[in-house]
Amino acid sequence: MAKGKNTSVFFCQECGYESSKWMGQCPGCRQWNTFVEESVVTRTQGKSAVTSGGTKNKPASLMEISLEEEDRLKTHMQELDRVLGGGLVKGSLTLVGGDPGIGKSTLLLQVCRNLAADDRKVLYVSGEESLKQIKIRANRIGDFSEHLKLLCETSLEAIEETIRRTSPDVVVIDSIQTMYRESISSAPGSVSQVREATSVLLQLAKGLNISIFIVGHVTKEGTVAGPRVLEHMVDTVLYFEGDRHASYRILRGVKNRFGSTNEIGVFEMETSGLKEVLNPSEFMLSGKPEDASGSIVVCSMEGTRPMLIEIQALVCHSSFGIPRRQTIGTDFNRVNLLIAVLEKRLGLSLGNCDAYVNIAGGIKIQEPAVDLGIAMAVVSSFKNRMIDNKMIAVGEVGLSGEVRGVSMIQARIQEARKLGFTTCVIPSVCMESVKEIEGIKVIGVKSVKEAINLL
Ligand code: TYD
Ligand code: MG
Repeated sequence: MAKGKNTSVFFCQECGYESSKWMGQCPGCRQWNTFVEESVVTRTQGKSAVTSGGTKNKPASLMEISLEEEDRLKTHMQELDRVLGGGLVKGSLTLVGGDPGIGKSTLLLQVCRNLAADDRKVLYVSGEESLKQIKIRANRIGDFSEHLKLLCETSLEAIEETIRRTSPDVVVIDSIQTMYRESISSAPGSVSQVREATSVLLQLAKGLNISIFIVGHVTKEGTVAGPRVLEHMVDTVLYFEGDRHASYRILRGVKNRFGSTNEIGVFEMETSGLKEVLNPSEFMLSGKPEDASGSIVVCSMEGTRPMLIEIQALVCHSSFGIPRRQTIGTDFNRVNLLIAVLEKRLGLSLGNCDAYVNIAGGIKIQEPAVDLGIAMAVVSSFKNRMIDNKMIAVGEVGLSGEVRGVSMIQARIQEARKLGFTTCVIPSVCMESVKEIEGIKVIGVKSVKEAINLL
């Protein structure tokens, strides 16, 4: 930009897209009316966070670098440790995103409590609640060790100073959108402020080898920058999600430099904070109707863990010209495709029927291994024929009605056995890899038609 000109740019508050002029719709994330003018910060030095220790770094061979068990802190919340890839990595920056009120502050306060009980020095910085309000929340959760220190502060300079002075092992910043640096003129929560705050915290984490959690609210309005703006800067991104009206919450890894992103953690919000759900299958199946048509249990893999889930379908005669199709918790187009397969390959006249498919419990499932379950539930409801209560089905369905193989079949069957199911319908190609398990009958099917004949 020409010298002497005012260097202000426009940022999309949703995804951080940068533009020299205002635009109605963001080309990056297609959101409307999210651009806000901000003045640009010019960095005096382009120092990388990893080398900010001040010493000159020498190249090292991998053999010279030693790893210790100690480099991962256990939070003593199995669900969280697994999502993090086996514990909290020292010197890492973790973003916990989620809708307001979903339980981010509660989760992190509980993490702080566990770490402090392990004699770790923990600093919880809140820019949203007063010390008294945090105390009220803490009282619901339980007793806290004195190693946990609370700080109500929103100025980055003051937070940086406190961290350098007290050198804690773990820091929680609740939330990044309330933090600000005075030298930047834009308001707290704007893209410039959020980015600046994150880069300061990143330098602190790498430089001092401390683990930092950042809370980021997901916002619908463009007034506060969303967590997506900083996803690329941090090491790990976790999203905390769930239906606000249901009590369970799911912690999902979206990015993880130190582990897999497939894992999920399941929690339940109770009156005394979040409780881990160590056996989500049992939780998901509670309340399953005993003898109703259109209901079947399937097994979906969430990372390394099999999870049993109930699929419900309701098919009824349509009173309109165009039948209604609706799905909750699963892909709408996938269900439409399966219904088309059922029409063509099984000759069912679903064309004048409304069809609704629901994954019970409010969880979202993307895995194609639930296809067969969906198809069977739809047919069961259409023919008003019950499916055996003790049966589960897994398999991907192809366009010619064939049932295709799925991964980790043994783990799925074992989970079904554990929860008392006695029959397992699986793709016939998977039969070879199945070792016999006592108490459960495994049936291999080649096509949807074969599976439907079992009803
Ligand atoms: P909170 O952690 O404040 O959400 P966030 O930080 O993501 O905005 O969670 C607030 C909700 O959790 C609130 O609706 C009350 C509920 N809650 C419980 O049900 N039980 C509890 O023990 C606590 C502390 C909160
Ligand atoms: Mg909060």
